[in-house]
Amino acid sequence: MITEEIKNYGYSGIKRTLISAEEIQEKVAEAGARISREYEGKPLLLLSILKGSFMFLSDICRAVEIPCEVAFMSASSYGSDTVSSGNVKINLDLDKDISKYHVVICEDIIDTGRTLACLCELLRERNPLSLSVYTLLDKPSRRKTDMKADYSLFTIPDVFVVGYGLDYAEEYRNLPYIAEAELL
Ligand code: IMP
Ligand code: MG
Repeated sequence: MITEEIKNYGYSGIKRTLISAEEIQEKVAEAGARISREYEGKPLLLLSILKGSFMFLSDICRAVEIPCEVAFMSASSYGSDTVSSGNVKINLDLDKDISKYHVVICEDIIDTGRTLACLCELLRERNPLSLSVYTLLDKPSRRKTDMKADYSLFTIPDVFVVGYGLDYAEEYRNLPYIAEAELL
């Protein structure tokens, strides 16, 4: 279904809205409240994995009501189905020592789980006080690893989605909602 909202954006490569901006904001508020309760009185670092989670991080940090710091990292996995957990390329690394922080990774989507599994392994070696994963979207049917989020805002079916930070060939990241992409 093509909604008015999508028509207004003038994009043709979108099938339908999967999750509206309002639904996202509601869940982000819940997640922010949960983080605030869980890490009250503790040194907290919200870690965004670029580029996909930049919008999620910017909203979730505003929903967190306790002191926190933010950090950014960029990684891409470059393996086939058979790769081990070593195959992640760090394009941009952290600029701080995480051993003094409780680190909450704010991820856009867990698909096969490969990128995050590699990244978590790498981050654990740096001895954070704790490490947990909040993911905006979870596609459990696509999992190729035993990666599990500590908290996921939405579980979605096996469709390719764009918007709210997620891209198709670098486009659509600016949509304020999540849509199913029309792959040509
Ligand atoms: P994974 O390593 O397979 O779990 O996924 C790694 C990355 O693939 C995610 O962080 C996204 O950047 C990208 N990705 C996976 N599924 C989608 C999707 O449906 N839309 C856009 N990007 C996706
Ligand atoms: Mg990502």
